[in-house]
Amino acid sequence: MSDKAILELDGKKFEFPVFKGPENETAIDISTLRGSTNGVITLDPGFKNTGSCESKITFLDGEKGILRHRGYAIEELTKKASFLEVAFLVIFGELPTKAELKKFEDDIKSHSLVNEEMKDIVVGFPKSAHPMGMLSSFTSALTSFNPGVVDINSKEDMYNAIVKILGKFPVLATWAHRRNHGLPLNYADNSLGYIENLMQLMFKIPTEDYKINPIAVKALDELLILHEDHEQNCSTSTVRIVGSSGAGLFASLAAGVSALWGPLHGGANQAVIEMLEAIQKDGGDVAKYIAKAKDKNDPFRLMGFGHRVYKNFDPRARIIKNAADELFEDLNLNDPILDIAKHLEEVALKDEYFAERKLYPNVDFYSGIIYRALGIPVSMFTVMFAIGRLPGWIAQWKEMRENGEPIGRPRQLYTGETLRSFLPFEKR
Ligand code: ACO
Repeated sequence: MSDKAILELDGKKFEFPVFKGPENETAIDISTLRGSTNGVITLDPGFKNTGSCESKITFLDGEKGILRHRGYAIEELTKKASFLEVAFLVIFGELPTKAELKKFEDDIKSHSLVNEEMKDIVVGFPKSAHPMGMLSSFTSALTSFNPGVVDINSKEDMYNAIVKILGKFPVLATWAHRRNHGLPLNYADNSLGYIENLMQLMFKIPTEDYKINPIAVKALDELLILHEDHEQNCSTSTVRIVGSSGAGLFASLAAGVSALWGPLHGGANQAVIEMLEAIQKDGGDVAKYIAKAKDKNDPFRLMGFGHRVYKNFDPRARIIKNAADELFEDLNLNDPILDIAKHLEEVALKDEYFAERKLYPNVDFYSGIIYRALGIPVSMFTVMFAIGRLPGWIAQWKEMRENGEPIGRPRQLYTGETLRSFLPFEKR
């Protein structure tokens, strides 16, 4: 392919350099377009064709269904590494040595105590509040308890902010759930690993022993690894763009949590279970819901299906489907919802509508089934996603800062009224 692209406009030719990444991805660098053409911009709603940055963190090929972090295949990472090991890789670029991982884990633990005054904020929320709304607010509130700005030239400052948020985030996330259910707000237990601790934070009640099931821990660890990063998705782009204004890490992450909440993004895992339950209540008529999803006059969409980038199987969905099968076998569980999901997938994949549009199950299609089997309430599903995605958001924010990226500020094509005279009340 040529190393330059030529644009012809009003009889004039403009040249733009063409870049290729190590995976042969091609990008036309149009950063000089506006300047050289006297104000012409590109129009790309939803940024379907726009690369907003260069990144070394995650490679994904949506046509082939490939996902790699720092060059390592997601299939290998989920089987061979722990959640914090992958977090270290994603954030710092290399797999940690044993000593580095131990230090990272210990440093995170040293920040697992949240300021007691934060509890006033937690109980200030009504019990009916959605945990994602609470989590976004708690993350933002952390900024007030830690007003210092991270000096991006200080590796130590950056590292401290990273281990601090990784330590406090699971506590805050589970406090949202505890508030919903009127339960005492648990403290972290630093004798436990990250995932075990997450489970006791969420489920342990002071009057009873809480036994952590290693099968559940393994399933949750794998599931959260699968969520760690996914390059420039809606919430990650939000984190990068908020951070590009100079806003701090915690404020940028709070915005990421809000972006993830939407049903077209991370909120889909909750929407999938609600859809599967509705199908079950309705007698399990899968064909009826497939027909609804295809009907352009019906707003219903098959939740957990389709992806902006994957036009093939989402590799994470394959892994999660197998993990769900393994978990159900290991725990000797049976959930009719899993059977409905498999039936729905089978019928959809054979259907021309889904085939033509290359709509496959995405990461959210089976993840809720695992969360449900682990006893995690539906309202917490997207919060679990946020806990999983936290390392990716941190890595992307750090990379954006270290690259010295300019403030994110897209242009627009104005389509409103041209200049008109002000109308007094009697003429409106
Ligand atoms: N059910 C039915 N039809 C669908 C679905 C679906 N789940 N997804 C896409 N389509 C159809 C659209 O109606 C459109 O049809 P048309 O060409 O006849 O108009 C075509 O497929 C393309 O869809 P778009 O919405 O243009 O694709 P886009 O890339 O903008 O959206 C998205 C991707 C938001 C994920 C979409 O597939 C969707 O809404 N899926 C359901 C929600 C979901 O599962 N979200 C989680 C995504 S994964 C994540 O964020 C973690």
